[in-house]
Amino acid sequence: MKFSDFKNKVSTIINVDLSSYKEQRVERRINNLIAKNNLKNYEGCLKRLKESKEFQREFLEHMTINTSEFFRNPMNYKHLQEVLFPKLFAKKQKVKIWSAASSNGCEAYTLSIILKELGISPSRYQLKATDIDPSILEEAREGTYSNNALKRVPKDILSKYFTKKDNYYQLDKKIMAPVEFSKLNLLKDSYDKNIDLILCRNVFIYFTKETKEQLTTKLSNSLAKDGILFLGNTEYLLQPEKFNLKKIYNSFYQKI
Ligand SMILES: C[S@@+](CC[C@H](N)C(=O)[O-])C[C@H]1O[C@@H](n2cnc3c(N)ncnc32)[C@H](O)[C@@H]1O
Repeated sequence: MKFSDFKNKVSTIINVDLSSYKEQRVERRINNLIAKNNLKNYEGCLKRLKESKEFQREFLEHMTINTSEFFRNPMNYKHLQEVLFPKLFAKKQKVKIWSAASSNGCEAYTLSIILKELGISPSRYQLKATDIDPSILEEAREGTYSNNALKRVPKDILSKYFTKKDNYYQLDKKIMAPVEFSKLNLLKDSYDKNIDLILCRNVFIYFTKETKEQLTTKLSNSLAKDGILFLGNTEYLLQPEKFNLKKIYNSFYQKI
């Protein structure tokens, strides 16, 4: 079976269109998974996918890299804390925020920490976090993290909001409570509207150029007037105006 036929068949079994992801990477990861599970070939992989929900989960986890950390790219979070959030909350009574490929929650919880530090009550914002992978959302709801995810957390913040257990840290329930997690596939599902700040970080890197453009259009359409899109450090828009956006600082783009 050709890889292109395999990809088409996969999308009829699980709700993921692999053709939106960069081909070489997808092929490499699937071949790894096939070897790891002694499946011989694509037919074997499809058969296992049809038979086993557990394997479907493993397949999805293998395709989506979940790496995340608190305060990833600290300069950007500093700008959010010192400039963008104060402006936004001065202008609006209720602010809508969405972490669009949230992984294990580090990103959304970083925002919750910053808002707490700014003294902004959770009644003044809605903080949604979504991801395609249900197992990583379960982890996010637990709020337990290893050293690796915490290496950029300032010491005072670590001692204020985390409790050290054996070999991990538990995040304070007060920080976790404002974040609502749910499953959302950026490629297929529709997005909420009138959002003031969207974080879509370190996920575009896996998609083809066409898919990236389609998603950027969808994200821009979901922003409120003057809303802000916050991308990953290596993900910049060459022509932001094509999406009704303008660059305002590093990885931040504002709706025109
Ligand atoms: C590398 S993590 C980035 C996490 C976080 N945004 C950050 O920058 O630290 C990429 C996340 O994108 C998610 N993802 C991949 N494809 C997706 C899709 N089609 N829809 C929603 N999330 C997706 C993965 O499950 C993974 O959790």
